[in-house]
Amino acid sequence: MDQSVLTVDGLRVSVEGCDVLSGLDITVKKGSVHAVMGPNGSGKSTLAYTLAGHPSYEATRGSAHLNGEDLLEMDADERAQAGLFLAFQYPLAVPGLKMEPFLHSAVRAVRGEEEAGDVFSFHRRLLKELRFLDMDPTFAERYVNDGFSGGEKKRAEILQMLLLKPKLAILDETDSGLDIDAIGIVAKGVNRLRDEGMSILIITHYQRILNFIKPDTVSVLHKGKIVRTGGPELALELEEKGYGEYTGPSLGVLA
Ligand SMILES: Nc1ncnc2c1ncn2[C@@H]1O[C@H](COP(=O)(O)OP(=O)(O)O)[C@@H](O)[C@H]1O
Ligand SMILES: [Mg+2]
Repeated sequence: MDQSVLTVDGLRVSVEGCDVLSGLDITVKKGSVHAVMGPNGSGKSTLAYTLAGHPSYEATRGSAHLNGEDLLEMDADERAQAGLFLAFQYPLAVPGLKMEPFLHSAVRAVRGEEEAGDVFSFHRRLLKELRFLDMDPTFAERYVNDGFSGGEKKRAEILQMLLLKPKLAILDETDSGLDIDAIGIVAKGVNRLRDEGMSILIITHYQRILNFIKPDTVSVLHKGKIVRTGGPELALELEEKGYGEYTGPSLGVLA
């Protein structure tokens, strides 16, 4: 039986006429955490956006399948319904819309009416998840992203992920400034999804977050291709040696 949730073969993506992904292969196993690490500009965010169906990132070649379904044929909403989650797909502040109805409608749109439940059962579930993440219940009353701190945005994102229960969550950890508290929230969410059999693709430049979330697999992305795949020890090796082996010594030091 095929135990992979995501299979990407020979994926090519060009942005403004340049190949940003140049024949990328990756397989994410069911119930695993797969970390993709790479230097700045290697194509990490492009991979995340392309898989999620961002209209500016179109694959020119190759394939991407989620549980055997052709992702590249689907629009972004269909990909979400198929079980793909990309952390913060709604980054704008929405004054006038509170978190609770926003999250409820997101779950309804992605998981359907029945799973989302009525306002009362959704409210109970939301309170339970807020407790799990050590978040104040009043968070549900806040306006979406309105005046959220970096840490609150991160909490909102992980909360959304837990409510949506995706088959594959993609977390693009661009923010190197995450404090220890926010890292703890991300780790708690990710570890729970993995325990429940879901898969996580965590994309990061830094290995710090991987001290809290032990990846099952680590891949190195360089110049739009996966150049190496190994176990968790590969992240530690990168921490120690930097990306110099791939980028040349002057650029290789991990900040
Ligand atoms: N929307 C875009 N417009 C122009 N160039 C882009 C765009 N997105 C990505 N690129 C280019 O693609 C390369 C990879 O970018 P990105 O995927 O953001 O890398 P990473 O997340 O690994 O730092 C960079 O050289 C970047 O300048
Ligand atoms: Mg990036």
